[in-house]
Amino acid sequence: MEWHPLSWNEKPIKQLPPYPNTAELQRRYRELQNLPPLITSWEIDKLKEKLADVSNGNGFLLQGGDCAETFEGCKSPKIVNLLKVMLQMSFILVHEMGTPVVRVGRIAGQFAKPRSSDYEEIDGVKMLNYRGDLINSYEPNAEARKPDPARMIEAYNKSGLTLNFLRALTDEGFADLQHPEQWELDFMKNNEYYKDYEAMVNSIHKAIHFMETITPNVFTTLHKIDLYTSHEALNLYYDSAQTRQVPRKPGWFNLSGHMVWLGNRTKQLDGGHVEYLKGIENPIGIKVGPPFDLDDTLRLIETINPTHEAGKIVLITRMGVDHVDEYMPGFIKAIKKEGHPVVWSCDPMHGNTFSTENSVKTRSFDDILEEIRTTFAVHRAEGSYLGGVHLEMTGDNVTECVGGANGLNEEGLDTNYETYCDPRLNYEQSLEMAFLVAKEWNKSYGNS
Ligand code: PEP
Ligand code: CO
Repeated sequence: MEWHPLSWNEKPIKQLPPYPNTAELQRRYRELQNLPPLITSWEIDKLKEKLADVSNGNGFLLQGGDCAETFEGCKSPKIVNLLKVMLQMSFILVHEMGTPVVRVGRIAGQFAKPRSSDYEEIDGVKMLNYRGDLINSYEPNAEARKPDPARMIEAYNKSGLTLNFLRALTDEGFADLQHPEQWELDFMKNNEYYKDYEAMVNSIHKAIHFMETITPNVFTTLHKIDLYTSHEALNLYYDSAQTRQVPRKPGWFNLSGHMVWLGNRTKQLDGGHVEYLKGIENPIGIKVGPPFDLDDTLRLIETINPTHEAGKIVLITRMGVDHVDEYMPGFIKAIKKEGHPVVWSCDPMHGNTFSTENSVKTRSFDDILEEIRTTFAVHRAEGSYLGGVHLEMTGDNVTECVGGANGLNEEGLDTNYETYCDPRLNYEQSLEMAFLVAKEWNKSYGNS
């Protein structure tokens, strides 16, 4: 069978409930096909080049954002805050590691979610589970939970608005956020490494002032900041309607986001998601965590990247803190043996979710950090380069994950628990994590 943007539709597909009205689905699909692209093929090529560098040990990938974006969350402060925290984290990483950082947001398209069960019961009524605003409504009634293809247009619109604002902000370098004296850092006083942290902030401060003194235009240092977009390619109607050919270049590009990823639950070799992803030019994230089969994973990578193109595959491992030692050494050895030029990234979030006694879904800062630490350690021992982290995080002051220097405990979780899906690191926890990631990276790959 020859690949085309809809060839996945002839394969079995997981995690995508059937739309009840196929005529309406087709109408919306065509509407989406005719709308202008959100991003360009040359941006995709550029990101791939940067990721190729990372796969060679030059650079570090910082990928992060909400577990699930919502239509309602398409608002100025939320977008600004995510950009702000990602920039600040990347300054910390650049400064501490002396290597370029590639920033990729889970943003402007991250609206669809895999779920462990198709149905749930609320107040005695059985209804479809919420699968993200791209598919159905969070509202707890059976009608609102039906998949609605008009939501694909709304997701496109919200992504476009988000991207437009991001591009405007990054165009001028988002100058006032480059100054660490404007960061909110008091919380770090409780971290055991506060002295190191303070020294780093002072040194970033000095470096920026130095640049501003010697360059007449204060914006030149960080003019045009790049933030790439990414989402899980889950609702393949949305992704395939925006998969296009472009003039004078071979191949098909998903022009809805720079990078897309394959979720841990949709990675079946003979399934629709793998069929779709093998035909597009974008860099592709592959989530790998238990349960997984090593041989199947190798075949999956070979299927998606048969030419062994560098910068194409980001292997995002999400083992859970207790499983890193069990799975990672064999996995790294096997990838080396096959000669796959992958970017290794660690998602320390998805294997470490638990519920409190009050049934609040959370994650602990310590588990997240420990998965990062052990993953670095295994890569170091295997002579391999861990080139990125993948975090669920926000720039807002939410209370969803416990721990961190601000000492959030389980009782504090309901103060500002906002997520509809998985718990995220908040502003302070994210900055602290960046600092600790840089420390771990230096242990493995630093010169000192
Ligand atoms: C996610 O990244 O939101 C997600 C669902 O991850 P995974 O597929 O690794 O469970
Ligand atoms: Co998630």
